[in-house]
Amino acid sequence: MVWWQNAAIYQVYPRSFRDSNGDGEGDLNGVIAGLDYLESLGIDAIWLSPFYKTPNKDGGYDVSNPRDVDPRFGNLADAENLIRESHRRNIKIIVDIVPNHFSTEHSWFQEALNAPSQSQERARFHFYDGRGESGEIPPNNWNSIFGGPAWTRIKESNGEAGQWYLHLFDSSQPDLNWDNTEVMEDFKKTLRFWLQRGVDGFRIDVAHGLVIEDIHKDHADPEGLSAALRLDVLMDPAKRNELLASNPFFDRDGVHEIYRKWRKLFDSYGDRDIMAVAEIWVQPPTRATLYVRADELHQFFNFDVMNSPFESKDLYENISNTLKLVQAENAWPTWCLSNHDCERVASRIGSDAARAMALFVLALPGSTYIYNGQELGLPTGEMADSDRQDPIYFRTKGDEKGRDGARVPMPWSGESSPFGFTSGKPWLPLQSTWREYTVENELKESDSSLNLYRKALRIRKEYLKGAGEITWLSTEGVLSYQRGKVTVILNTTYTSFPFSGEVLLSSHKIQNTLPPKSAVWLIKN
Ligand code: GLC
Ligand code: CA
Repeated sequence: MVWWQNAAIYQVYPRSFRDSNGDGEGDLNGVIAGLDYLESLGIDAIWLSPFYKTPNKDGGYDVSNPRDVDPRFGNLADAENLIRESHRRNIKIIVDIVPNHFSTEHSWFQEALNAPSQSQERARFHFYDGRGESGEIPPNNWNSIFGGPAWTRIKESNGEAGQWYLHLFDSSQPDLNWDNTEVMEDFKKTLRFWLQRGVDGFRIDVAHGLVIEDIHKDHADPEGLSAALRLDVLMDPAKRNELLASNPFFDRDGVHEIYRKWRKLFDSYGDRDIMAVAEIWVQPPTRATLYVRADELHQFFNFDVMNSPFESKDLYENISNTLKLVQAENAWPTWCLSNHDCERVASRIGSDAARAMALFVLALPGSTYIYNGQELGLPTGEMADSDRQDPIYFRTKGDEKGRDGARVPMPWSGESSPFGFTSGKPWLPLQSTWREYTVENELKESDSSLNLYRKALRIRKEYLKGAGEITWLSTEGVLSYQRGKVTVILNTTYTSFPFSGEVLLSSHKIQNTLPPKSAVWLIKN
């Protein structure tokens, strides 16, 4: 087995994990300070959300230099130190790569602004003349995924209104033109830069973007097109899937060519077993497995389970379908319940169901991703609108609250906010009621969510490695599967379920019956 195939991977959102210097924002030295905690939690790898140079208009996913560290997070030496310290504890490091766009503050974009239209500098992005008499209408009618138009018009160096550039996300995130070989060369340089510093893998942001078709055509439903990716927007799932499936800027066939080239680069590092996991939102699910063909990437995020209601029908269909599709490609699945872009699982399905779901997915074959704070059972944070920072909030003029609630810093210790996260003023407020969720408190409480995760990860290492196969024992109401010697049962019904067998671990206190919204691992001797 290769390390990532069955790994428990912990996502650190560096700004919110732990602050080492009192400026209110988490940083790389904070992550180093948290390594003992992560080691004792029992994870195998850390995925670090971006910590590169950034004006921070989109939480660091607006990168102005991917080969340097932003001062708010520390410096290159800190990054190297973090990689070294993690490796010393047998923890691998996965870093985020953001290939769909740069920040407007990246030197390439600044050069493009100062260069004439049709220049080599502009050809690294998507610059076009507008339509209409004086070019006042954008090249097409697409909307940004964060709301508002996907085009911004620039001032040329003579001071006059000029060309438009495409930004599928915020206007501070100009899309890169992947038809331009300079872009590929620059990303290869970035991948090598981090590989030389010892990282073990990459999480690829918006991996299904990059290739754009029909840029000179209007779309019939520009609002829907962009909203299809915003998880906090309620939309009919069928409609959403249809929009994702026929989207001119997502999941175009040409994107696979890019990853075949990247895969060659990864493989050239031989026995380091470099891996890459793709953030993709594609439909139908058969399209997802194309990204993990033998000569492409290693994994993709399976967001179906993350978004699934706590109902046996949806869960069974999503999980069994994923396993079937991924195994057909000879690849390994991934599971996650939360990340920095969506409501926290404890708030989405409730804290009991979240504990039960944790056990249910932690026993599945493949790797499992845990978002910082998820192990504490942390709910989505609440805040005043004046505290919000997510560009989604601003671009939708407040119609959507955005993702800040998922990014509220971790509570570590003590009786009152900011609960040991920082000695200063936290960049987003921690709830004053979060005393019960601190690491310090949960370590003491034997039934805490943290202790459930710690036990589960330990047992997972011992009993649940290898063997990709599971056998479904029950697929309705009460879901159950067998993996090796372990039987997993999840009760999604409203009545208790009697079972017999030796209990390895349970999400709640149980005695021969499994209450609603709980799960158990049994061991066959
Ligand atoms: C991904 C990231 C998200 C970011 C977006 C644009 O979806 O997870 O946080 O805003 O890409 O880079
Ligand atoms: Ca700091």
